[in-house]
Amino acid sequence: MSGAFDRLGRHLLFALDPETAHGLSIAALKSGVPLCSAARSTGRLATRIAGIDFPNPLGLAAGYDKNAEAPGGLLRLGFGFVEIGTVTPLPQSGNPRPRIFRLPRDGAVINRLGFNNEGHEKALARLRRRRGGGVVGVNIGANKDSADRIADYELGVRRFAGVTSYLAVNISSPNTPGLRDLQHGPALADLLARAAAARGTTPLFLKVAPDQEPTQIDEIARAAIDAGIDALIVGNTTVSRPPLSSAYSAESGGLSGAPLATLAAQRLRDFRAATGGALPLVAVGGIDSGAEAYARIRAGASLVQLYTGLVYGGAALPARIVREMEALMRRDGFAQIAEAIGAG
Ligand SMILES: Cc1cc2nc3c(=O)[nH]c(=O)nc-3n(C[C@H](O)[C@H](O)[C@H](O)COP(=O)(O)O)c2cc1C
Repeated sequence: MSGAFDRLGRHLLFALDPETAHGLSIAALKSGVPLCSAARSTGRLATRIAGIDFPNPLGLAAGYDKNAEAPGGLLRLGFGFVEIGTVTPLPQSGNPRPRIFRLPRDGAVINRLGFNNEGHEKALARLRRRRGGGVVGVNIGANKDSADRIADYELGVRRFAGVTSYLAVNISSPNTPGLRDLQHGPALADLLARAAAARGTTPLFLKVAPDQEPTQIDEIARAAIDAGIDALIVGNTTVSRPPLSSAYSAESGGLSGAPLATLAAQRLRDFRAATGGALPLVAVGGIDSGAEAYARIRAGASLVQLYTGLVYGGAALPARIVREMEALMRRDGFAQIAEAIGAG
């Protein structure tokens, strides 16, 4: 899509309520219509993490394609990988609408969706039917009304292992009451042990919230290493509220986008220190440019992901970020992304 057309498309989408706009973008991605000029990246950005070969380190974060409807179209935008989900065992409708709010003056979004999704079966069937390669991960969650949430995760891991490049256990959503309690103590150890036992040979990632105290960070890092987790995704949206200037800033839910960048970058450094580099880290939160993505890599991330950047930057953003990252690596004399990880 040309720049002008891309901007027009975004203008039209922004005239609609966020969920309608999102549905249209998924339909466009599914249709196979090219939404931007094809992305090309060279071997410089290719990287191997947790035994997976990524063509580049920029991923689409979970929540955009909750039901595995358009991973191929999303990969064609230039992402090196796409994480579908969060999927829960049973379909669920999530919280009442409205539940997504754009904060355009802040480049941010607040959402309290509550894991609305079509359930395991639909996503599983789509992934099984899928043709074409690419790195596609599945983000696993628990139903709101489940009597045994850890069993929901275990089931998700078992069902999707083998049909996905990696599994991401998501215990970080602020929109399912009590879910984040699984990030601590015996519940965390039990969850990780059962997920690890169910995964077969599929790499297992853990996605955590950015709203953590230092002792909690150490506890999660230790538990993840002990359980043989392959990577930590740092992290989800925040329930904190840095200064915001848009309408809707007082809405409850998780904040994402530009105002999350400082906190997310700090948590990345915290988890890097807590793990001592023993676990690959996936940086998420407020990434909307090649410079920001590259800064997270230099701060210790092996991979990066974004969601809200796509809302404001449009379909051309992933390919642009990949180009910018490559130029920055060339400037700094890095031939491989692995050399830039944690370079400071
Ligand atoms: C509308 C919306 C829905 C989301 N849904 C999920 C989800 O289902 N599972 C999940 O792990 N993260 C979800 N996220 C969080 C993102 O994956 C990401 O961690 C967070 O938005 C921070 O990245 P960003 O600032 O680039 O958006 C969602 C975010 C948004 C904005």
